[in-house]
Amino acid sequence: MPEKAHEKTLAVLGVTAASQVSGLFSELAATAANELGRVDSRDLFEKFRVEWLGRKSGVLTLAADNWLKQAAPELKPAVGQELNKFKRDLESLMAARLAAIESGSDDSAPVRDRVDLSLPGVIRPVGSRHLIRQVFSEIEDIFVSIGFSVVEGPEIETPYYNFEALNIPEFHPVREDMDTFYLELPKGAPGPLLLRTHTSPVQIRTMEKRQPPVRVIVPGKVYRRDNPDATHSFMFHQIEGLAVDSDITFCDFTGTIEYFVKQFFGPSVKTRFRPSYFPFTEPSVEFDVSCIFCGGGGTGAGGGSCGKCKGSGWIELFGAGMVDPAVYGFVNYDPKKVSGFAFGMGMDRLAMLKYGIDDIQVFFQNDVRFLKQFP
Ligand code: PHE
Repeated sequence: MPEKAHEKTLAVLGVTAASQVSGLFSELAATAANELGRVDSRDLFEKFRVEWLGRKSGVLTLAADNWLKQAAPELKPAVGQELNKFKRDLESLMAARLAAIESGSDDSAPVRDRVDLSLPGVIRPVGSRHLIRQVFSEIEDIFVSIGFSVVEGPEIETPYYNFEALNIPEFHPVREDMDTFYLELPKGAPGPLLLRTHTSPVQIRTMEKRQPPVRVIVPGKVYRRDNPDATHSFMFHQIEGLAVDSDITFCDFTGTIEYFVKQFFGPSVKTRFRPSYFPFTEPSVEFDVSCIFCGGGGTGAGGGSCGKCKGSGWIELFGAGMVDPAVYGFVNYDPKKVSGFAFGMGMDRLAMLKYGIDDIQVFFQNDVRFLKQFP
């Protein structure tokens, strides 16, 4: 195409037949496409736009003035059609170019720099939260909804927090099954340390730091001298609960527990408590829930007695009680002014009951076939 053909009339260019018109436009289109190919920034795009579509002296305006308006009458329809088509094509090419510039995927970039956004991505398998974690959150949500907050404490404890401040002096018989994983410390290190045997030490740590009212739950790992079997593991999980205020009664305590159990297992379960013993609660109780498997009737699916509750209709859930006034002495609370309750639930056990898992070991074996069942 002659240089700046659009500045000349068709007559000057020697275009006299309709058949020559489309050749003229396809050359113009090729020039435009070529120039547009080098446009790789907004600035260049704007320059290109003015050069081609600018109202006063853009190529298109000049082509309209010189080619269309001054065309011989018999050429006018062909020139008009070609001009419109050229304009439409150019506009859509430009729109695509602008989109490419804005999305950063630049077709004119060297091949090795190109990112093909239409290729399927690399799908990396996404993990899921462990069932224990999921059940922790379920329980936390229930208690948070009734005004408890979540706190945590160290897994390595001093005997003071794990025992003494919980009213378990040295040589107290309940230490028997707990006096267990002590750390080997370098010579001269202060005091013995052990892996906590329950989450109860965080009761003390919390009350040392806060004045009543206190309403906390404490999720975490605990360690005991238990031989592994279907229901025991040397490491397991507990959720401790503690509520202390000026007027907390045994009714608040059982009401709270009942609310939790119904939220967690469903509204049809019943609860009961039996007297029990913990040095740091008085009175102490053991909470039972009506058997989730046989509905509390004690009869199994086959007609015999239910294997889960051994025919009793009840399943032991966790220990709890009203905070023993002696404990307040360790944290400088006035036992005449405050009262409260505490509970310690075995998380793994709750998860096993709710999800029908019959071996605690599967929680810790990391077998994906098990883990995948709880996405
Ligand atoms: N810490 C007790 C245990 O691990 C459970 C418990 C917690 C009992 C709080 C009463 C109050 O067995």
